[in-house]
Amino acid sequence: MSTIAIVSALLDEQRGLLNQLQNPQKRLRAGRTFWCGQWGEQQVVLVLSRVGKVAAASTTATLIEAFGVTRILFTGVAGGLGDGVRVGDVVVAREFLQHDMDSSPLFARYEIPLYGRTCLSCDAAMTAILLEAASAGLARAGSHFHHDLLIAEPRVHAGLVASGDRFVSSAEDAAGLRADLHSAGHDVLAVEMEGAAVAQVCFDYGVPFAAMRTISDRADDQAHVDFSAFVQQVASPYALAIVREFISLQLNQ
Ligand code: ADE
Repeated sequence: MSTIAIVSALLDEQRGLLNQLQNPQKRLRAGRTFWCGQWGEQQVVLVLSRVGKVAAASTTATLIEAFGVTRILFTGVAGGLGDGVRVGDVVVAREFLQHDMDSSPLFARYEIPLYGRTCLSCDAAMTAILLEAASAGLARAGSHFHHDLLIAEPRVHAGLVASGDRFVSSAEDAAGLRADLHSAGHDVLAVEMEGAAVAQVCFDYGVPFAAMRTISDRADDQAHVDFSAFVQQVASPYALAIVREFISLQLNQ
């Protein structure tokens, strides 16, 4: 039977998912806690990636090598960079790049050395289901959750997400990142710290991968404000609603 890994970056995001697991079994490996169990008919492993590209890559390799997972779904939060990508919106990644990859002049800026590419695509079939799940999950979550942290009806976006080993927390940094990526031909929707690393390990192993991020901030000077409140009150319920839809949609495929 196929096993799907659901990887979260932060504990609050994972808590709601863990409550859904039947027969949860805790296994320790590579300094991480892996929760194996069933979500309805689906065999699932839940794990925290921790923060940053190296931690996420190590978690992903362990999931594949030691737990034999056959698909990986990432849920988390991100800073919004694209026009109209607002706090509370959800971004479903179509592809990832590393905004802090720069081996120029040996390779073009942002290109992953020896891979002959800059962007790594998410699995098209999983991403299509995730997009459907995000719309359905948000429609459901919107009518059930009451919070003061959101400014508008959440929307779902799909496109390029940039990962790097820094929390982007100034308007100047955010604008610079966006402009530099734009001049290299990349229109980025959001920035976070793990997805491109998970995508690269999944590419190496040929494991299908999809990712969703709730926008927690605009990667500007306000980016740290109410971060944990947002994760608890908005991102975690969204992740739960969307993963629930995702699992039931893919079981019906
Ligand atoms: N995750 C959530 N917000 C972020 C930001 N502003 N920069 C990097 N990762 C993030």
